[in-house]
Amino acid sequence: MEEVVRQVTDLSAGKSALPNREALLAAARAAARFAYAPYSRFRVGAVVIADDGRPFSGCNVENASYGLCLCAERNALASAIAAGARGFQAVAVACLDADSSLGANGRAPCGACRQWLLELAPDAVVHLDGVERTYTVRELLPLGFTLG
Ligand code: THU
Repeated sequence: MEEVVRQVTDLSAGKSALPNREALLAAARAAARFAYAPYSRFRVGAVVIADDGRPFSGCNVENASYGLCLCAERNALASAIAAGARGFQAVAVACLDADSSLGANGRAPCGACRQWLLELAPDAVVHLDGVERTYTVRELLPLGFTLG
């Protein structure tokens, strides 16, 4: 708990350059330690940086009714939106239990989270822990659905 609070607080206070890839990924890894994942044992953490510089973190939260599981990315985005944030510059995701043989496929946001990112954070850069390159949201979701 103290570690993730410190990481996110440091980001917020500008002690880390924003959006600094390594600082964001460290905060995402710290957030993943709060994951409630008794069914999959797959812990995920996410940090989103709003356009105003505020960082918000989230972890996955599972449920015995499996379809109700909430992903870390949507948890972080919902926290940010609920705090009044609009527009995001960066997203970082860490999957602590990813199979190392899967590369980016084992660490990239699921389709539902990509759709949320397209709607809420279309201009954010996306950093994935353990994946060297950085992605745009549109790279992750080409031909994404929109109404407007
Ligand atoms: N999960 C995430 O938190 N984010 C993703 O983008 C992919 C999947 C979570 C959901 C579930 O709790 C666990 O990882 C296994 O699918």
